Amino acid sequence: MTRLNWGMIGGGEGSQIGPAHRLGAQADGNFVLAAGALDHDAAKGRAYAQTLGVAPDRAYGDWREMLAGETGRHDKVDLVTVATPNATHFEITKAFLEAGFNVLCEKPMTMTVEEGEEIVKIARASGKICAVNYCYSAYPMVREMREIVRSGAIGKVRLIVTNFAHGHHGDATDADNPRVRWRYDQAMAGVSGQFADCGIHALHMASFIADDTVRALSADFASTIASRTLEDDAMVNFRMEGGTVGRLWTSSVAIGRQHGFDIQVFGETGGMRWASEQPNQVYFTPVGGRTQIIEKGEGGLSDEAQRLSRVPIAHPEGFPLAVANIYVDLAASIRGEARDGLPTAEDGVRSMAAVHQAVASARESGVWVDARPPMFR
Ligand code: NAI
Repeated sequence: MTRLNWGMIGGGEGSQIGPAHRLGAQADGNFVLAAGALDHDAAKGRAYAQTLGVAPDRAYGDWREMLAGETGRHDKVDLVTVATPNATHFEITKAFLEAGFNVLCEKPMTMTVEEGEEIVKIARASGKICAVNYCYSAYPMVREMREIVRSGAIGKVRLIVTNFAHGHHGDATDADNPRVRWRYDQAMAGVSGQFADCGIHALHMASFIADDTVRALSADFASTIASRTLEDDAMVNFRMEGGTVGRLWTSSVAIGRQHGFDIQVFGETGGMRWASEQPNQVYFTPVGGRTQIIEKGEGGLSDEAQRLSRVPIAHPEGFPLAVANIYVDLAASIRGEARDGLPTAEDGVRSMAAVHQAVASARESGVWVDARPPMFR
């Protein structure tokens, strides 16, 4: 199969998420890094792209130059990944979709709900793929949980409890470090800090596993470090369209918790739990029965879990290969095969609505609000 041409914006040398995209996109031989505008510093971006094997004429100084350079090429990139800071996602994603490129945008997809709705409309009108990198939903055992729900093995999902709570911004003496401070500064980060950064992964995963969407929520936000104008801790209660009750805790001051992302799904006839720090196992308990550990790579798993796993039982694949699974489905979609697990611009705008409505709820002492974007009400 011919490799697809891939371009990247952001994710330059030293960035947090850039390496996971490069490992992920190229892990299965679907994509080759053909173009990039990797850094806010044009010279650094050009130089670094070339060390990664990009030809000098496709190692661009910025995304506008890349858009102009790639448009009209016979071998133009088949997919553009946007891995820049949040405030730039909208204009870059919009411009590339309008020019007829497929896009994978990092989360959060936009800064506002209006921008999110615009991206959905542009993606629909263009017929191009606009995916959002909710990569945790692509772990094989998360797919297994969704298939367990779909099989009816735990009955109707009554309750989901999910946490994305780490402690890496919990040191008040480090709160003024520029790499930390901007995340809690409204001018830089937007309306929400921790909920927009980590909470939306947990909310997306709850929707993904339950195969349902969030209808309403009530939020309590706190800035536990007083100098912060945005929340570093949030508790969000939510309800799904199908009636599932949701509880979500997200924090960046939970000292001692590391990555801190886990989810429990409780149905009428069974319960399940998964944690990103032990991603190979799902704990499954049928009502009245003993807890079983379902292991990645064992026999009898769903086709989805098997399809998205590469190495045998007991060998971890981990975060970059969860990102790789997003690229596996992107490559298939670009080649014209349907894939239903890929997080889309619709998921992106649902997250933005949840963020903005959670902020509104928190300001009104946790009043319940409609969590849906206007276009889906
Ligand atoms: P970072 O600050 O570590 O790196 C950002 C990179 O983008 C740098 O190389 C910078 O030079 C470059 N950049 C900035 N502005 C640019 C521009 N206009 N054009 C081209 N390059 C530009 O940021 P990090 O942590 O890698 O985050 C980037 C995005 O990825 C954010 O939206 C973040 O929310 C998301 N992210 C997603 C994760 C996930 O699990 N899906 C995990 C971590 C980050």
